[in-house]
Amino acid sequence: MRLLVTGGAGFIGSNFVHHVLSRHPDYSVIVLDLLTYAGNMENLSGLASNPRFRFERGDICDAQLAARIMGGASTPSSTSPRNLTWTAAFWIPRHSPAPM
Ligand SMILES: NC(=O)c1ccc[n+]([C@@H]2O[C@H](COP(=O)([O-])OP(=O)(O)OC[C@H]3O[C@@H](n4cnc5c(N)ncnc54)[C@H](O)[C@@H]3O)[C@@H](O)[C@H]2O)c1
Repeated sequence: MRLLVTGGAGFIGSNFVHHVLSRHPDYSVIVLDLLTYAGNMENLSGLASNPRFRFERGDICDAQLAARIMGGASTPSSTSPRNLTWTAAFWIPRHSPAPM
């Protein structure tokens, strides 16, 4: 299972990411985070060398970026054969700008 966690460098998201990677060896996680003042890479410390972890700095409102991260899948829970199964855990960051 591949999991996209937006806002994953924040308080809740990062704890969720550590939990998933330590408890679910069959999961891989991509964190999409804009690293606003609330985002801190320290919250994700120790994961950089984990092959099941990837960090992407960016805005959840950037549809092109989100599509690239999900390999062209239009929705996070797409089951298109190209993408295996994506499940997303969305933490709507408190500080995100209004969707364009
Ligand atoms: N912390 C709590 O006790 C609590 C309780 C209930 C609900 N919530 C909700 O959960 C969500 C996350 O809370 P938290 O405490 O982890 O927040 P946080 O502020 O610690 O983390 C938010 C993260 O989102 C990132 N971010 C902000 N705007 C972004 C954007 N446009 N694109 C990508 N990333 C962006 C920030 O860089 C940060 O890493 C919020 O919506 C909050 O309201 C939090």
